[in-house]
Amino acid sequence: MTANELFPPACGTQDPAPACGTQDRSIRKYTREQLSRAQLESIVQAGLYAPNADGRQGTFIVAVRDRALVRQLGARNLAKFDRSRLLGSFVSGEQPSVIDDPAAKDGFYGAPCVCIVFAPKNFLYSIPDAFCAVENMVLQASALGISSCIVARAEETFDSEEGKALMRAWGVPEGYIARCFVTLGYCRGEYPPPKPRRAGRSFIVEEKP
Ligand SMILES: Cc1cc2nc3c(=O)[nH]c(=O)nc-3n(C[C@H](O)[C@H](O)[C@H](O)COP(=O)(O)O)c2cc1C
Repeated sequence: MTANELFPPACGTQDPAPACGTQDRSIRKYTREQLSRAQLESIVQAGLYAPNADGRQGTFIVAVRDRALVRQLGARNLAKFDRSRLLGSFVSGEQPSVIDDPAAKDGFYGAPCVCIVFAPKNFLYSIPDAFCAVENMVLQASALGISSCIVARAEETFDSEEGKALMRAWGVPEGYIARCFVTLGYCRGEYPPPKPRRAGRSFIVEEKP
């Protein structure tokens, strides 16, 4: 059974994107349109099916469709952003990131929906597990025609009494920590072309003749 049979596009109109996501970009400009509950459930499901260290299935995913709360969390995501540690990177002209725009106030770029991946704090593969989950979610979103962006600084975003209260209210297990986000929505304006790959980043070892 293919991934698209397991997680069929809820609206059924978009062509599935290539499974490896070669055409996908990180999108940071969104329309106000919300994705459907069925689409969101399918994306969360893809995260739950991600590869996971030791087969522990340890991640816990919270999906927020409440736009006011998404905005609030997006602001908190930037509140402790230490720009002095940036190494002068440039991320994107068409889809500027908070690194490119020092005046940015919303770490979630006005997306109508965000998912948070939590994982056990004291587990060696906590961070890899969370990012495997989030990448599965990005690929499933793309298969549904939904744009996304992985966002970091999750630990800091929930490192407050309000953050801990939200985690309790959502039923996040004790001893878990927020590891990463994925924003979800529809791309505002033209979808940017894929970025060319830097050369010289791979090597294939053939069997000796
Ligand atoms: C571990 C990780 C953390 C990231 N954190 C952020 C982030 O905090 N904010 C953001 O706008 N993009 C973030 N991104 C998205 C990258 O900036 C993006 O994938 C990269 O610039 C390549 O651009 P493209 O996806 O459009 O090809 C992150 C991606 C990864 C893999």
